[in-house]
Amino acid sequence: MLKLAARTGRAKPSAIMVIADKAKQLKAEGKDVVNFSIGVPNFLPGEHVYAAVREWTSHDSGSYGTNRGAPELLDAIVAHLKQSGLDGYTRNNVTVGIGAKQVLYNLCEALLDEGDEIVFPAPYWTSYVDIAEILGARITILPCPSSQHYKLAPEQLDKALASNPKVFLFNNPSNPTGMVYTREEIAALADVLVKHPNTWIIADDIYNRLVFDGIGYHNFVQVKPELRERTFVMDSLSKTYGMPGWRVGFVAGPEAGVKALVTLNSNHITCLPEITEVAAIAALTGSQDIPAAKREEFSKRRDDVVNALQAIPGVHCPRPQGAFYAFPDISVAFGKSHNGKLIENDVDFCKALLDEKFVATVPGSAFGEPRSLRISYTCSPEQLQKGLARIQSFFAELSDARVERAAANA
Ligand SMILES: Cc1ncc(COP(=O)(O)O)c(C=O)c1O
Repeated sequence: MLKLAARTGRAKPSAIMVIADKAKQLKAEGKDVVNFSIGVPNFLPGEHVYAAVREWTSHDSGSYGTNRGAPELLDAIVAHLKQSGLDGYTRNNVTVGIGAKQVLYNLCEALLDEGDEIVFPAPYWTSYVDIAEILGARITILPCPSSQHYKLAPEQLDKALASNPKVFLFNNPSNPTGMVYTREEIAALADVLVKHPNTWIIADDIYNRLVFDGIGYHNFVQVKPELRERTFVMDSLSKTYGMPGWRVGFVAGPEAGVKALVTLNSNHITCLPEITEVAAIAALTGSQDIPAAKREEFSKRRDDVVNALQAIPGVHCPRPQGAFYAFPDISVAFGKSHNGKLIENDVDFCKALLDEKFVATVPGSAFGEPRSLRISYTCSPEQLQKGLARIQSFFAELSDARVERAAANA
């Protein structure tokens, strides 16, 4: 019997998509579903992006582009990095991919041989595990529970790097928690990184323009320039510019490492579609009003979500300061029941919430933190209020399962 490669057996379909599909199915059945499950921005790119694309279609083109990315796009990326406080990069330090996901895949492929160790904190973005597993890397997870505000402590990092892992992967602002590290926290982690020169660093900073409360975005290479030679900074147009389907990701890093990514591009994708590059240049170099307005809007919605969740007895929701996610610890519900359904864990909770209240969320176990769930709050304010009220009433209707069982046996 013909067999597929072993790595295909290690690839799992995304847990987030499983819930999103169920929510879609309920919606198709006419149920009034509120979807907090999928991390897509609820806005479209600016008109100038469409104008650039329309203009491009009037030209004769459609040829192959370059593996690294169109020179004008590389210049736009370098300028964008500079605006984000990441100065000193040139075209030779950057390249593109089909979204940050493909950039990350390339990076892991370039840096990790089978059996090499990759370290990252939990909660983590689900694809970190999936990509590392496909490549046969050894994964070490550093648990950062809600009691430490889902943030990595310098001592934890120091201990983990003692074994000289090949790669340290770090995400700030975080999906799924929305946590953002302050400059002091980044500096403290950077001090540790300097002490461990045998580890590559991947900084997944794709939400860096969605930071609230004026705390700003900070990166290891800003506070310790010597880390630049082994740090790759990933970014994407998906969330900042309302362009997830356009699939543009990019990365800045040391020249030799980025050159290896370009070689992988030449074998995996050849190039980004030219029409996509045109759209990306327009988004990066045109008006930045939309991302700025969205940052304001999301920070207000964050307040609504956190206020509603904190009003529920026993629910603990560290206050997110970026992205568009909240990640409440809902373990107070475990061992209780809703409408006779026992809730033993996060998956039971999310299933019951979807079945009973038609609110779709993602179980925290998908992100390595099974006491929590992820709420993505990019939907309309009306949907947001409706969903939050339903979550509150779900909690209010929970009853003590042991009491119920005892009553049933009496
Ligand atoms: C933390 C993180 N990194 C990377 C990605 C990939 O983004 P894209 O491939 O759309 O650029 C996502 C998408 O949800 C994400 O949340």
